[in-house]
Amino acid sequence: MSSSQRKYASMRSIGAYVPPRILSNADLEKMVDTSDEWILKRTGISERHIADDDVATSDLAVEAARDAIARAELETGDIDLVLCATVTPDYFNMPATACIISDKLGIRNVQAFDISAACSGFVYGLSIAKAFIESGMKRNVLLIGAEKFSSIVDYTDRSTCILFGDGAGAAVIAATEDSGERIIDIHASADGSYADFLMTPAPGSVNPCSQKVLEEGLQYVKMKGNETFKLAVKTLTKDVREILEHNGIQAEEIDHFIPHQANYRIIKAVGDALKMREDQIVLTVQKYGNTSAASIPMAINDIYEEGRLRYGDLMLLDTFGGGLTWASALLPFAGK
Ligand code: UT7
Repeated sequence: MSSSQRKYASMRSIGAYVPPRILSNADLEKMVDTSDEWILKRTGISERHIADDDVATSDLAVEAARDAIARAELETGDIDLVLCATVTPDYFNMPATACIISDKLGIRNVQAFDISAACSGFVYGLSIAKAFIESGMKRNVLLIGAEKFSSIVDYTDRSTCILFGDGAGAAVIAATEDSGERIIDIHASADGSYADFLMTPAPGSVNPCSQKVLEEGLQYVKMKGNETFKLAVKTLTKDVREILEHNGIQAEEIDHFIPHQANYRIIKAVGDALKMREDQIVLTVQKYGNTSAASIPMAINDIYEEGRLRYGDLMLLDTFGGGLTWASALLPFAGK
């Protein structure tokens, strides 16, 4: 393959959707023993959006995907791979939520599958899209991060129910011959020895659905919050340092540092360790809470819709979540 024919992967567009209903800290004060003051101080979260009972993860995803496809100036027929990163799929075993999304969008006869990497799912998906495009197998990948996280939250557990929200983000990752538009680098990793830091014990082959599962509430997310917090700060900081060093890029050259939105204190600690300026750091946790795989594309969409994200802007993505998984990516925005 000559260099003039070489295909790179680029982020051509972004879109996002949040359901309209808001769950505020004041609402949570009426549900569990907590306070607006505690939540704000410990997490930076003021409110999160929650989908109605009859809305599925795929419904959130479809709204985000429509925007991403239109902004890439493509038709649904141009999409040749659909990836959905989620840990709150429409159905836990099958079919994949990516298949349901494809059907709802009218995308027929293309490969479609889900990615299970919790909060790191979107950046994991970016690495899969990049590999498919750069190998020449696909041209226009619809990559979605979508969660109806409220479907696995125990709203009597104050240590988790204050954190999470619902939403979706989507991007078109497309082939380009312009090396200036290319996704520069992605580092993705995992350590399953920390699996119990953040998990939903059921349903699955270990704990199939049963009366016992329901009685013990094993279908709900469980988190060792404080341990996860400490590991997140350490891992995210190290990960960002490595990807910057590996590519000879200084922190001050980054236009938008877009970390996973789990807790303002984690973002602040990582930003401080890397000496990031406040205007470089994208923050949405205050209004959406932690939306897991949707958090990074929703944050990219926020700065896009505010007019702050322009063609060529250098983005640094950094994420951490259940698995444990973590990932970072360096890429310019290649959309209009
Ligand atoms: O997205 C994937 C990755 N996830 C994360 O990165 C999340 C990481 N963890 C966190 O963000 C934080 O650990 C939390 C926000 C979950 C908790 O904050 P913390 O500062 O680590 O608090 P803690 O768990 O050490 O608990 C401190 C105290 C405890 O009371 P005692 O034992 O000191 O009396 C908790 O029972 O705060 C209590 N507490 C609460 N109090 C009021 C825990 N949750 C609440 C609450 N309201 N909602």
